[in-house]
Amino acid sequence: MSGVPSRVGVIGGGRMGAGIAQAFLAAGAHVAVVEAGAEAAEAARGRVASGLAEAVRRGTLAEDVDAVLGRLALLDSPAELGDGTGLVVEAVPERADLKAGVLRAAEAAVGPDAVLATNTSSLSVTELAAALERPARFLGLHFFNPVPASKLVEVVVARETDPDLVARASGWVRALGKTDVVVRDSPGFASSRLGVLLGLEAIRMLEEGVADAEAIDAAMELGYRHPMGPLRSTDLVGLDVRLAIAEYLHRTLGERFAPPQLLRDKVAAGELGRKTGRGFHSYD
Ligand SMILES: NC(=O)c1ccc[n+]([C@@H]2O[C@H](COP(=O)([O-])OP(=O)(O)OC[C@H]3O[C@@H](n4cnc5c(N)ncnc54)[C@H](O)[C@@H]3O)[C@@H](O)[C@H]2O)c1
Repeated sequence: MSGVPSRVGVIGGGRMGAGIAQAFLAAGAHVAVVEAGAEAAEAARGRVASGLAEAVRRGTLAEDVDAVLGRLALLDSPAELGDGTGLVVEAVPERADLKAGVLRAAEAAVGPDAVLATNTSSLSVTELAAALERPARFLGLHFFNPVPASKLVEVVVARETDPDLVARASGWVRALGKTDVVVRDSPGFASSRLGVLLGLEAIRMLEEGVADAEAIDAAMELGYRHPMGPLRSTDLVGLDVRLAIAEYLHRTLGERFAPPQLLRDKVAAGELGRKTGRGFHSYD
């Protein structure tokens, strides 16, 4: 017994969905990835295959890549998920209407005992649950990027989530070799709420001339043993992504999440972090 459901559906095989599929495949599950069209499906298969090959290179996967890929199926629509599916994880782009639509379609396709989960990083899981017939069978499973290397999964408990389901979901996370952190559904969960606040304060310190970017990051990396300082981490996530999350947390949690002007200016100037070669630091 692998400890994860034997049949898992993943809707959206992008950066996160491919990583989530890879994690469940490596744990022994049969995984069906739902993608939007043949080209996107091929790209998703390629992402999963290269992720598995990388895991073999790193020595974290002992099984043959082709054998693992034998358990992967690509589907065109959530309606094709069979009623033997034990868990469906939704990882489509961060739009509430899109997520609600695919979750509803998945719910109609799977059996009444199947569990549905969202990988949203900022939307309200409780609001998404309102689109479903069986909100008690729904919760958030917030994986981190890159999924294979990240140890954390936040298990997000919405208002109507069945408490027994929370314990089962935590067990699945551990069976993936990751650590579960159970949080009540609230803006930013535990991780983004703390991580974004630290990042915003670091940007305000830069604005005020307290120290330069290298010094602010070094203070956290060397003084508090953070693996990456708050500005370098903002560069990695993307300044545009951070700004969008900060705006959402500002609306929902208040003034302490107000985005600093320097963040807005850099986004307007196209300095989005690593992906553009420049953010708070410069990259080759
Ligand atoms: N990237 C991150 O760092 C990160 C971290 C944690 C959570 N998340 C969340 O994970 C989710 C996905 O993010 P991502 O970075 O993987 O995005 P992405 O753009 O890389 O992937 C999204 C995928 O969904 C597919 N898709 C779009 N519409 C679809 C549909 N109707 N049916 C099936 N597939 C469809 C796209 O083709 C694409 O492959 C978002 O909710 C995001 O907020 C992202």
